[in-house]
Amino acid sequence: MDYQLDLDWNDFLQRYWQKRPVVLKRGFKNFVDPISPDELAGLAMENEVDSRLVSNQDGKWNVSHGPFESYDHLGETGWSVLVQAVDHWHEPSSHLMTPFRHIPDWRMDDLMISFSVPGGGVGPHLDQYDVFIIQGTGRRRWRVGEKIAMKQHCPHPDLLQVEPFDAIIDEELEPGDIVYIPPGFPHDGYSLENSLNYSVGFRAPNAREMVSGFADYVLSRELGSHRYSDPELVEREHPAEVQPAELNKLRSMMLDLIGNPAHFNSWFGEFISQSRHELDLAPPEPPYQAGEIYELLESGETLERLGGLRVLRVGDTCYVNGEAMTTEHIGAVDAIARHKTVTKEMLGDAMNDPSFLALLSALVNSGYWYFND
Ligand code: SIN
Ligand code: CO
Repeated sequence: MDYQLDLDWNDFLQRYWQKRPVVLKRGFKNFVDPISPDELAGLAMENEVDSRLVSNQDGKWNVSHGPFESYDHLGETGWSVLVQAVDHWHEPSSHLMTPFRHIPDWRMDDLMISFSVPGGGVGPHLDQYDVFIIQGTGRRRWRVGEKIAMKQHCPHPDLLQVEPFDAIIDEELEPGDIVYIPPGFPHDGYSLENSLNYSVGFRAPNAREMVSGFADYVLSRELGSHRYSDPELVEREHPAEVQPAELNKLRSMMLDLIGNPAHFNSWFGEFISQSRHELDLAPPEPPYQAGEIYELLESGETLERLGGLRVLRVGDTCYVNGEAMTTEHIGAVDAIARHKTVTKEMLGDAMNDPSFLALLSALVNSGYWYFND
């Protein structure tokens, strides 16, 4: 199923993105849930899947983490089950992210889905990331407050909440409605009926993660072996002082490494193309031969990208799950990065180059792409 989002993206980006929360009433017309509450509950029973159950009974909050064995103990009100990265595990759900590709892929994270019974929710809180919350089946009241400094507290060790806030948005969302919330705006979703919510979440690195990631890259490639030297050293008055000119030289040593565009770009491609959640990898057994892949594509079969796999382009290089795809066929890998479904037409001449077919086979045999049959 293809989801069509009725939105003037230019206007949205200019007025709301990273600035103001907004309700996009009937963003999806005639919305059909890609998953049922039963299927979602089933996913939360699987080992690899990251899920939690949040409940509030008589003002007392509780959190437990999946995998869950049963839901029999739960009553009819006051709880919500939340499943992370459903786009990795449930193909139809992953289609809900496609309409949001007006925001670049590298900023996108995962699709979180929650099922809530009446009175269910995670309570008032802040998130560090942008999110579009789509209302699926059921009605849920969403309140969003102004972004102001707020004290956070933990009513349960695994639950971070904020104090009650005044609402700038207070609406009952119906199926197909969307609320967009930029980082730092407090919000609270309170279910009025059994309801499904889909959160298309974004990511944005902070400097700490980047410095740490870049340091790993420097270590693994053994870069920066060049050592501080000072042949121009002259007598000084204060033996204990590190002089400003020395600090500048030391800082330059570090900045030169980050400032090298080849290193920076290749590090960032590897860094940002890694998923923050586990992938549902199922390498084909036996592995494909390059010739078989050629034949299948020639006969009109298509290659589908594994849900949640990050494929990003930095300059002329495409990165897949933390690794550069080394090839001269820039047009072909660009098409692989742009489209979720790959046809032979998109690959063009690259199809006739054994080295490209070898690359493609490696990707298919890793379980990153699969034939849709
Ligand atoms: C949800 O309960 O579906 C979304 C939770 C959130 O606000 O982040
Ligand atoms: Co939130």
